[in-house]
Amino acid sequence: MPGRTSTLTIDYTNLMAAGVADCGLSEADLERWAGPAGDSVRDIAERRRKREVGFLDLPDDRNQVKAVLEYARALPPSIDTVVVLGIGGSSLGPHALYSALARPLDPLRPRAAGLPRRLLFPDNADPATFEAVLEVCPPERTLWNVVTKSGSTAETAAQMLVVFDRLAAALGAEGARRQVVVTTDPTRGPLRRLADRLGLTSFPIPASVGGRFSVLSSVGLLPAACAGLDVTGLLDGARAMRDRVLEPDLRQNPALFLATALAAHHQDRGRPMVVVMPYADALYDTADWFRQLWAESLGKANDTDGKPVHVGPTPIASRGATDQHSQLQLYAEGPDDKSYLFLAPRERPLLPLPRSAPAVAEPEDYGYLAGRDMGALLDAELRGTIASLTRRGRPNAHIALERVCAPALGELLMLFMATTAYAGPLYRVNPFDQPGVEEAKQLAYAALGRAGFEHLSGHVEAARDPDPRYRF
Ligand code: PA5
Repeated sequence: MPGRTSTLTIDYTNLMAAGVADCGLSEADLERWAGPAGDSVRDIAERRRKREVGFLDLPDDRNQVKAVLEYARALPPSIDTVVVLGIGGSSLGPHALYSALARPLDPLRPRAAGLPRRLLFPDNADPATFEAVLEVCPPERTLWNVVTKSGSTAETAAQMLVVFDRLAAALGAEGARRQVVVTTDPTRGPLRRLADRLGLTSFPIPASVGGRFSVLSSVGLLPAACAGLDVTGLLDGARAMRDRVLEPDLRQNPALFLATALAAHHQDRGRPMVVVMPYADALYDTADWFRQLWAESLGKANDTDGKPVHVGPTPIASRGATDQHSQLQLYAEGPDDKSYLFLAPRERPLLPLPRSAPAVAEPEDYGYLAGRDMGALLDAELRGTIASLTRRGRPNAHIALERVCAPALGELLMLFMATTAYAGPLYRVNPFDQPGVEEAKQLAYAALGRAGFEHLSGHVEAARDPDPRYRF
């Protein structure tokens, strides 16, 4: 839908001197960063042109939407649960979509018309949780979506092996096959080979799209479609934002502006951390998704020339208003080493507080709440927190969604992915690789004694060799 009006209001005033005086960035700071920002846009555009970077083009892939919707529509109504077996980018993205767009506490509710299936995200390979997932998911009523771009992630493989075994025992080989759908690389990797060999239904993750940038691919869309969420609206919103974030001018491009401002607050003003604090439970898993996106993309040992740099900002996910009673004391009065990003919907479901009840009879106690709305309280808490941080010179930005809906979420996710991509060149690192994650995967293989990884077992042993002086 070209020309869609944005459902986001993005306010960066309080990152700037205009909002937080000397603690903010000046126009001169922006001028200094305009050159690197322009280079960053060109760098990402070039990588997009060479088809190395695919996330910006996902909103145009209407065939993929059609395919996932058709698949979801054809699922028998008896399937009331989809369990996503994946970790990292293969789980955080779909989880963010589900938390934002399904009803609160959806997994606990009876199914309703239009919202046919609950989703579960065990994510971790914790046997205690996973055994419980198996216990609450009857084989014939559950679809297992195995999601892994590489196909080789051990946590996902372990979950999949247990599920295959239990399904085969309960339903036989053919029955088991029907309860599994795979999302992986279109041509490469062990899961692709397995899917082809067993004839499993599968959906591709484009080669140019890495895990943490994959939420708008079949990784996010397939589970979302199975849960009856508005995947078309999601991509419409993402496409509208995508068009804005291709703009080369820092002042016209909200992702480039945010990437630049956060990098400047880090590199010039000593604020290496960014706190993402949604004032809506529905958006908390979006903050969690962002945590991985920002950390894994920008925390790097080497720059793009291979020089050791050990750079990276630290993302923190916080929940408003809950963390006002947990973290805000630190944010307001502790070290001035953070920027803040507030997210909130402008429209919330109404939950009026009673006007006349025994508890509000005494106006000086709870009277200020009488006849107000619970959402107005959350909004007031947000305004109070922004005011408190602003008057203390703590730089902050505020992104308001018209409401928590698919198009607004699509815009927000695209904004954050583009911000992260543009931040890469501003930190002089490649935002699309993750050598540290790959190393840990290989060391885990060595720890498991996997053939071919013996040369790494020395590192594993050395790391657990206790020094008696420090062992209690
Ligand atoms: O962003 C990434 O690339 C990683 O976080 C991966 O998503 C994560 O390690 C899981 O990898 P895979 O999808 O290959 O199982």
